[in-house]
Amino acid sequence: MEPFRLHLFVCTQQKPEGIPSCPARGSVAVLGALDREIQERGLNHEVQLTTCGCMGLCDEGPVMVVYPAGVWYRRVQPSDISDIVSTHLGNGKPVNRLVWNDAPAMKAMSVEHGEKFRDAMAARDKAGMLPDRLDQMIRGYMPSRCILTALELDIFTAVGDGANAEQIGARIHANARAVAMLLNALVALGLLSKSGDDYKNTAESARFLVQGSKDNHRNGLLHTANIWHRWSTLTDAVRTGTRIPVDYDDTPEWTRNFIAGMQRNAKARAPLVVKALGTAGVRRILDLGGGSGAYSIAFAKACPYVQCEILDIPEVVPLTSEYVSQAGVSAQVSLRAGDMLQDDFSSGYDLIMLNAICHMFSEEQNQDIFRRAHQALARNGRLVVQDFILNPDKTGPQHAALFSLNMLVATEAGASYSELEYTNWMNAAGFTDVRRIDLPGPSDLIVGLVK
Ligand SMILES: C[S@@+](CC[C@H](N)C(=O)[O-])C[C@H]1O[C@@H](n2cnc3c(N)ncnc32)[C@H](O)[C@@H]1O
Ligand code: FES
Repeated sequence: MEPFRLHLFVCTQQKPEGIPSCPARGSVAVLGALDREIQERGLNHEVQLTTCGCMGLCDEGPVMVVYPAGVWYRRVQPSDISDIVSTHLGNGKPVNRLVWNDAPAMKAMSVEHGEKFRDAMAARDKAGMLPDRLDQMIRGYMPSRCILTALELDIFTAVGDGANAEQIGARIHANARAVAMLLNALVALGLLSKSGDDYKNTAESARFLVQGSKDNHRNGLLHTANIWHRWSTLTDAVRTGTRIPVDYDDTPEWTRNFIAGMQRNAKARAPLVVKALGTAGVRRILDLGGGSGAYSIAFAKACPYVQCEILDIPEVVPLTSEYVSQAGVSAQVSLRAGDMLQDDFSSGYDLIMLNAICHMFSEEQNQDIFRRAHQALARNGRLVVQDFILNPDKTGPQHAALFSLNMLVATEAGASYSELEYTNWMNAAGFTDVRRIDLPGPSDLIVGLVK
């Protein structure tokens, strides 16, 4: 039985460039427009919207089907969506100008497409060609590098309300011919649009990548651009077993971008952590390596009686101070410059947080921190680790396995660790009731109690 009154399938099958496909003809924009319109008209409880793979009608894409009646639409564009949603989904009358009901022709096209596709794949296989998935993964650095360079050169800000390559080149003091090549690639990647000689930001790049925009992520993303240089040393890091210093390391600018990058994630995750841990019985918190202070700030805002102490390295503490005073919680959050691997933690805390910390350190260093945290906590106090947690065999989740390499190139002896490793270290340090709390998103919590 169909649980929804109507069920829409929109083809979003990606295909290699140059081969006809629904996404190449705009099905992703159609999907977005459908989703918005369905929500706006309050139909989301009756209408289910689902993406689907190729239906063999690619030359007539974007293709979508509405079930249970089986009404097929072809060549749908975002401008058609308002009509389809109001007339068909709302009032039950298909939009005839877009309906495709020549069943024999559709079937013939689909069967022929299937045969051609299988023949083409067999020919490629016989010729020993790299599968597309593998090829794309290997060349994945190209789009990434393009965007990182655009961010480093602040191209999206220079594009402003629209400009040509020469004007943009002059604004960023770069070669106009090369700038034009980069701009064209950014258009190909869907981050700019081009009309005549003029380039414009898309809604997405204007919102996230332009300096001064409300949701500007550029400073934080420059941290990702910095990490690029470290990843270039991966081969040697694997040979030697540890990080290879690069010229870009540890400049004040690097540190500022790093903390901005951390703040971007932490600000979004902090309310989840506060909710998962609660504030009952929490009066004193030690936030080890607090960075931007986002987690202490969230606890301070959630409970006026909470006092937080952030311990971070001397280069970071002035930046932490900026975030804390901007948040208006300086009376509840104090800062300490030091080294968590050496310094005495003091005592009497109800909560000690290690958010995105343990991956920087070796097993032995983490075990030592856990032991000293146990001594610094009051009775019923908790140690909480937030990190990317590996499966027992350490081959996934993918982001945690890749992040482990991020630590190989960036630290002396850091890595991603598994739940079992964290649990064993907590138990060995004297914690009880050690448990994992899964959070939405890539990192989870491991919490241990002092009895
Ligand atoms: C990955 S960031 C995490 C920041 C913050 N906890 C968060 O989740 O947003 C690691 C933080 O630990 C700090 N840190 C690194 N080594 C440290 C050490 N030995 N002592 C104190 N802080 C340290 C860094 O300066 C940085 O702020
Ligand atoms: S790619 Fe959509 S029908 Fe083939």
